[in-house]
Amino acid sequence: MKLELTMTEALHDYVTAISPPEPEPLRAVREEAGYLGAGMMQVPAQEARFLATLVKAVGARRTLEVGVFTGYSLLATVLALPPDGQVVALDLSEEWTSLAMAHCRRAGVAHQVDLRIGDARETLAALVAEQGAAGSFDFAFIDANKEGYADYFDGALALLRPGGVIVVDNVLWHGAVADPDATDSETAAVRAFNERVRNDKRIDYAVLPLADGMTVAVKR
Ligand SMILES: C[S@@+](CC[C@H](N)C(=O)[O-])C[C@H]1O[C@@H](n2cnc3c(N)ncnc32)[C@H](O)[C@@H]1O
Repeated sequence: MKLELTMTEALHDYVTAISPPEPEPLRAVREEAGYLGAGMMQVPAQEARFLATLVKAVGARRTLEVGVFTGYSLLATVLALPPDGQVVALDLSEEWTSLAMAHCRRAGVAHQVDLRIGDARETLAALVAEQGAAGSFDFAFIDANKEGYADYFDGALALLRPGGVIVVDNVLWHGAVADPDATDSETAAVRAFNERVRNDKRIDYAVLPLADGMTVAVKR
C-alpha cells in the first residue's frame, strides 16, 4: 500500500463532493480572482476549510493573517470566528485588500477585520511592541512573500499564546523544494524556512502535503 495518495482529478472531485459546500461569500471571492486571472494566488477551498476548522478547534477569538490578497483565506477564517472575534490582517497592497474588505462588508464581517497595510515585517514588529498584543492571538496564517517567512513566523509566534496554532502555506512550493535544479530565491527561502522550523524548540509541528504543503505548528 502506498504511504501517500496521489491526488487525481477524480479523487479531488470526490473530496469536494463529500465536503461541506463552499460558502457563498467565498465562492464570490474565488470567482472574482478567476476573472482577474489571479486565482492561483488564493488558497484552495479545501485548505480554507481546514483553516476554518482549526480556528474553531482552538476556540480562536483573535487571529492574525499575513498575506490577504483579495480575501479568500481571510473570509474563511473570520467566518469561523465567534461574533466578537477579530482578525488582524496584514498586507502590502491597498488595491488587492480593498477587494477583500468589500467582500467582508458584503458578508457582514468587516467590523471584525483590523486591516494593516504595509510591509508585514514592520507591521508585525509594531504589533509585538503594542501593549497587550504579545501573547494575545490564538491562531495565525502565513501566506505572503517567501523571503519573509522566517521573520513572519517569529513575529507571529511572539504574538501567539501558548497552545496557539500557526499555519504556514506553500512549504512544498510546487514540489520545487525537492528538486535540486531549483535554485531560485523563493525556493531557497522556503527550504531555509523549513530547515529552521526543524530545529525550533519553541513549537511542536507537522508538515502536511495538502494543497501546496502546509506546516502546522503549536506554540509550546
Ligand atoms: C499568495 S497571496 C495571499 C493569498 C491569500 N491568503 C488568499 O487566500 O487569497 C500573497 C499576499 O502577500 C502580500 N505580500 C507580499 N509581500 C508582502 C510583504 N512584504 N508584507 C505584507 N504583505 C505582503 C501580497 O500583496 C499578496 O496579497
